[in-house]
Amino acid sequence: MKKDFISILDISRAELEGILAEAEKLKRQKKAGVAHELLAGKTLAMIFEKASTRTHISFEVGMNELGGHALFLNARDMQIWRGEEIRDTARAASRYVSAIMIRAYKHSTIEEFAEYATIPVINGLSDLEHPCQLLADIMTMKEHFGSISDLNVAWVGDGNNVCNSLILSTVLTGYDVTVATPKGYEPEETIVKKARSLGGHVKLVRKPEAAVKDADVIITDTWISMGDDKEREVRLKVFEQYTVDAPLLRLASKGARVLHCLPAHRGQEISDEVMEGGQSLVWDEAENRLHAQKALLVWLLKK
Ligand code: CP
Ligand code: NVA
Repeated sequence: MKKDFISILDISRAELEGILAEAEKLKRQKKAGVAHELLAGKTLAMIFEKASTRTHISFEVGMNELGGHALFLNARDMQIWRGEEIRDTARAASRYVSAIMIRAYKHSTIEEFAEYATIPVINGLSDLEHPCQLLADIMTMKEHFGSISDLNVAWVGDGNNVCNSLILSTVLTGYDVTVATPKGYEPEETIVKKARSLGGHVKLVRKPEAAVKDADVIITDTWISMGDDKEREVRLKVFEQYTVDAPLLRLASKGARVLHCLPAHRGQEISDEVMEGGQSLVWDEAENRLHAQKALLVWLLKK
């Protein structure tokens, strides 16, 4: 059966460990200048309904470094934008390429793609989840802290797609996640329930101070995700007290580190001081998108 990666829980704990070990190996090899063309002759189609910098670059460069090829497809230039059915696009594309990565507005678009495609489908971000981001985040935490199962991870801000994937990831990693959001901006209830039912440790609080107390890792993201632009003015007001800044960071554990999937909005969800400070791991995190996704591609595509 073909494998897909639409939710972070599409992989088991053991599979996550395998993917991370491969990612670390590929990272070491790249730094040492050792070629690893494990996917020669393979093509990844990358369909984007929304903007992207990191996801686009890291998947394209990743396929290139693995000896394969990546095809950038702006959804607006495809027939789906003129009404061709997803199930038809998925089946036709499956006859040309080895895997499809999609960044879509609706999670259901990616699920429908996966249902009809006969090749692996990867979620490059939807309104519900951003599992590729979590692969990189977990890799970055592991790289920095060594062991991650005992970490306290705090999320401050919007209970969005990245937050949902973080919550589900507790099931695979064992770390505790505490989420601080304003009322009405909590993560998806079904996601929280699912994580808890599978043994994940998730706490929802209101105040950022309550979430970051004793936290080893603080994670934040934009207050206005792609697709939320119409709520901009309201959101800027609602999230005013949710900036990850130096005073907030001082409440966390001594060696706490900060993650942000980027793009960042300095002065909103994160201060410039924290973003540029010694406790920020954001550039390692951005780099690890490349290594983690290469390992994911190898896991999905190598015979
Ligand atoms: N973090 C992330 O997915 O970045 P892009 O939107 O630039 O791809
Ligand atoms: N939550 C953000 C993540 C961007 C990478 C968004 O969906 O726009």
